Amino acid sequence: MNGRDLVRSVKVVGSVGAAQRLRTVRAAWRRRRADASGLPRRGAERARVPGPVQDVKPEPGGGVVRFTRSELRIVVTVNGAVFWGWDGADPEPSYALAGRCPEPDPRAVLEPDKDGGWRVVSERATVVVSRHGAIEVQTPGGVVLRRDLPPRWWEPVDGGAARWLQRSEVAADARFFGLGGRAAGPRLRNGSHRLWNTDPRHTFAPGDDPLYITMPVQMVVSDAATHLVFHDTSWDGTVQLREGEEGAGSGHDRAGTSELRMDGGPLRCWVIVGTPARVLHAWASLTGAPALPPAWALGHHHARWGFGSEEEVRRIVAGYQERGLPLDAIHLDIDHYDAHQVFTVDRERFPKLSVLAEELRRDGIRLVSIVDPAVKAEPGNAVYDSGLVEDAFVWDSAGRLVRGVVWPGESVYPDFTHARVRRWWGGLYEERLAQGFSGFWHDMNEPTSFTAFGENTLPRSARHSLEGRGGDHREAHNVYALCMARAGYEGLSELAPQERPFLFSRSGWAGMQRYGGTWSGDVATGWPGLRASLSLVLGLGLCGVPYSGPDVGGFDGSPSPELYLRWFQLGAYLPLFRTHASLRAGRREPWEFGDAVLEHARVALVERRRLLPYFLTLAHLARRTGSPYVRPLWWGAPEDRTLRDCEDAFLLGDCLLVAPVLDPGADRRAVQLPRGRWYDTVTEEAYEGPAQVLVEAPLGRIAVLARAGSVVPVRGDDGGLELEVWAPARGRIGGGLVVPDGGDGWDEPEIERYVAYWEGQRVVVRREGDDGSVEPSYPVRVRGLGTR
Ligand code: GLC
Repeated sequence: MNGRDLVRSVKVVGSVGAAQRLRTVRAAWRRRRADASGLPRRGAERARVPGPVQDVKPEPGGGVVRFTRSELRIVVTVNGAVFWGWDGADPEPSYALAGRCPEPDPRAVLEPDKDGGWRVVSERATVVVSRHGAIEVQTPGGVVLRRDLPPRWWEPVDGGAARWLQRSEVAADARFFGLGGRAAGPRLRNGSHRLWNTDPRHTFAPGDDPLYITMPVQMVVSDAATHLVFHDTSWDGTVQLREGEEGAGSGHDRAGTSELRMDGGPLRCWVIVGTPARVLHAWASLTGAPALPPAWALGHHHARWGFGSEEEVRRIVAGYQERGLPLDAIHLDIDHYDAHQVFTVDRERFPKLSVLAEELRRDGIRLVSIVDPAVKAEPGNAVYDSGLVEDAFVWDSAGRLVRGVVWPGESVYPDFTHARVRRWWGGLYEERLAQGFSGFWHDMNEPTSFTAFGENTLPRSARHSLEGRGGDHREAHNVYALCMARAGYEGLSELAPQERPFLFSRSGWAGMQRYGGTWSGDVATGWPGLRASLSLVLGLGLCGVPYSGPDVGGFDGSPSPELYLRWFQLGAYLPLFRTHASLRAGRREPWEFGDAVLEHARVALVERRRLLPYFLTLAHLARRTGSPYVRPLWWGAPEDRTLRDCEDAFLLGDCLLVAPVLDPGADRRAVQLPRGRWYDTVTEEAYEGPAQVLVEAPLGRIAVLARAGSVVPVRGDDGGLELEVWAPARGRIGGGLVVPDGGDGWDEPEIERYVAYWEGQRVVVRREGDDGSVEPSYPVRVRGLGTR
């Protein structure tokens, strides 16, 4: 933005400011009034527990255990997951499940246990139900992983949703992960974690909770096994976590505890036991395979709120091109809309958007568009008019359209929990495709409404279809963005069936990976924000959402050159590698921070491009197995307690260990290595794990280590695929998987499997196939040979 544009935009913001502030006051009052009349008043409540067991009814995969005041259905399904639901709750309907609930495993049967209890034994877990409704999940070897105490309900005497509490105990050594996108972690801290998708109103850093994506999904890692628990309830709630303590052999261990309190919704959950990889595989089979991003989306993206004009976009692109810096996508924020209205273009500043898009595309750069759900409530706005005809918007309990305030001013909100509305909305992307956009960035979909006081979202009493069942915002809020993502994904799949849709969304819920990824949202510029960036990506990966990344450089203010560079270097190894910043923030182009930073950023950009085939392989493996690209160090060794507490480094697939610099002034750092040999990918120096080692991290690079024996597909200088093979330790066999996909379409490339082993004085690499092993068809470069 040049000086004149800046002055103009500040003026516009200023004058709009006062009117907008007034709207937010009105919106807050409206919201309060709507809930005062539209929500059931909390009157007297009756507390209830299940009571003693009465009898049982066996069913395929388990059965029903009847208590005097409740009943419990247990089903083990064929993917090894265990479901249980109280008070007649079934797995369906569910917004998290992908399609129908998996079949019951007929081998699992309900059988009597000691003391009048019952149990279901299955291949991966044993579920033991006590006489009073406590439920234990045990490993097949009988080690208790989780003990749920009998639940408690509080039921309004005059009907309505019951609140409930589920208290659980886990092993003293257990660590909690997950709960969606959390700014501190990935190991979840003791304390309260809210389950209500929230725009924090300002930039966030560790300590801000909740954020945009919350999920009642916990991954619990302990010595005996890893397990994932998902409480399939979209209502507001909190989880109170407390890690256990070990009594140092005294026998006085204190169990870890989780207390889940929900405002309503069914009390039902899924539990999956196994290794982290097996757990996430079953999770993906339950809630859906992660969408495969097109190849270009695994490159570098540059965004900004406030490019402001076509000229500015061209200037940025030219900046990359003149300096020979790789660039794969440019994102246009709300300032390219006409008066901030979704599915429109400001014709004055972007007079030939489709021509620009076409030109960029010829240069290998895609355009991505922001898409906000709120529609300006103004007759004459085509989306508003057609939405009214479709009866697409959310109503309140008195039959008025619910109005909130977002960027365009007074706005209405599509009810994405209705299939018809999703179809209507999905069709609107046709306009975006015609403008030349290739990807979509869903924002403000918690959903956010700017309010001067009270919650910054829709009234809780707002009515939603909920697929025809009917309900209100208390139930629909957390799945709003998930349903919006579905609308976009399904619309795009129809409008451009030859291309894999590219979509990422600020808010979401369990299962959102089916439609795309997410990003950090407005992470605060500062070293704590840099740390939060990594926590978010790791934590979301453990909830089954493998594609995400931060606003590189942070959303607000101006990072120091050092902070910018360290963020850039981290971002280069995360699935979504995107620089982005606010309208009022300082510049984020790599050349704006001096020559040294530019050269170091270039190294990161070039390396990212070189690793593109590896990222594509990871994307395919994520889709087929549910394993995230970015994994905590304990991924392959959850029993390693030192690794379990390690939050400042990560594994990128099976091959690489990335140790970013997260503190100012560092030129080296300590890295906790998992077992095996690891090579510094720049110096080729070899380290033996498990160990803590000190590695060099001068300003020019962060430490990236390669696992001995790994086969990394990379892009050669001629653009073709090459195999970079890291010498296995003597006497060991290495290998890896490669999915050769350079495209954006639906072709299913075959998974190639390679092995690497020593033969005399050289390392041999072979491709394994049905007909034995053959020479690889790509050039092979073996590295790490200098060490013995
Ligand atoms: C929200 C988004 C941010 C975007 C801005 C304007 O704050 O999180 O990424 O730039 O809105 O659309």
